[in-house]
Amino acid sequence: MRCHADALPMPGMRSPLWIVGAIHLFCTAACGFAAGAAWWPLPQAAWPWVEGLCAATIGRASGLPWWWMPINLLFFPAGNALLGAGISPLMFLGIFCVLLLVNGAAWFQRVPLFLSSNQAAALVLTLLPQRKGFRLIDLGCGTASLLMNLARARPDGQFTGVELAPLPFLWGRWGACRQRGVNVCWGDFWSTDLTDYDVVYAYLSPVPMTSLWEKARREMRPGSLFVSNSFSVPGVPPARAFDVGDRVCSKLYVWRM
Ligand SMILES: C[S@@+](CC[C@H](N)C(=O)[O-])C[C@H]1O[C@@H](n2cnc3c(N)ncnc32)[C@H](O)[C@@H]1O
Repeated sequence: MRCHADALPMPGMRSPLWIVGAIHLFCTAACGFAAGAAWWPLPQAAWPWVEGLCAATIGRASGLPWWWMPINLLFFPAGNALLGAGISPLMFLGIFCVLLLVNGAAWFQRVPLFLSSNQAAALVLTLLPQRKGFRLIDLGCGTASLLMNLARARPDGQFTGVELAPLPFLWGRWGACRQRGVNVCWGDFWSTDLTDYDVVYAYLSPVPMTSLWEKARREMRPGSLFVSNSFSVPGVPPARAFDVGDRVCSKLYVWRM
């Protein structure tokens, strides 16, 4: 198994957080200037709302999805209210660090943490090769719950997970210690070689799918399976598609290389 933790995030995937940060910087500076110059006789408590309104409007005009509007609108007023509540800033730092450790890939790779359902695992099980010793890799395995499910049902296979976010990785690694056939490593799947695997499973987001497909085509052996939960590859029709029938109406897309 080869996985490395030293790769840079995939190029070309700009996080909207940079845009949001720039918009808020601009709006804060503009509101600070307007408040200082006393152009409008607004009470001080109104300025966070003015900032929020400007940020929400500019954000929407810059092409951010609609759901950024309430976030941008409420960010400063909520921050202001929390500051007034006298809560220790260390608590916010702590919450931020935990979120980063659990879900940092959402920021850096634009892939958040959510787990495959048991129904998806049951469907993947039906796609596994019959021969003993086959190898499956889960790219971004989260807490490795899918791998554990599969390994319990097929103890004759080898199941590998690669995970970038530290806390899910530790959780998965802990589980893997107690389940034969499962190996979880910390790293970036963009620098994990896919050549050795009979099945490559991914449950990511729409953002990386085109680049991931190019990687799969470069590295996967002929006859091996590429399975994506919920996210198809633009312009590449799958060989098969299945409704998983779970709560979130997932679909499994399958390509034979
Ligand atoms: C939607 S979750 C899927 C979890 C698991 N595969 C499952 O199906 O239950 C996606 C996971 O991919 C991880 N991830 C995103 N980009 C990654 C990368 N470049 N390398 C390794 N893991 C990554 C995220 O941290 C997240 O835990």
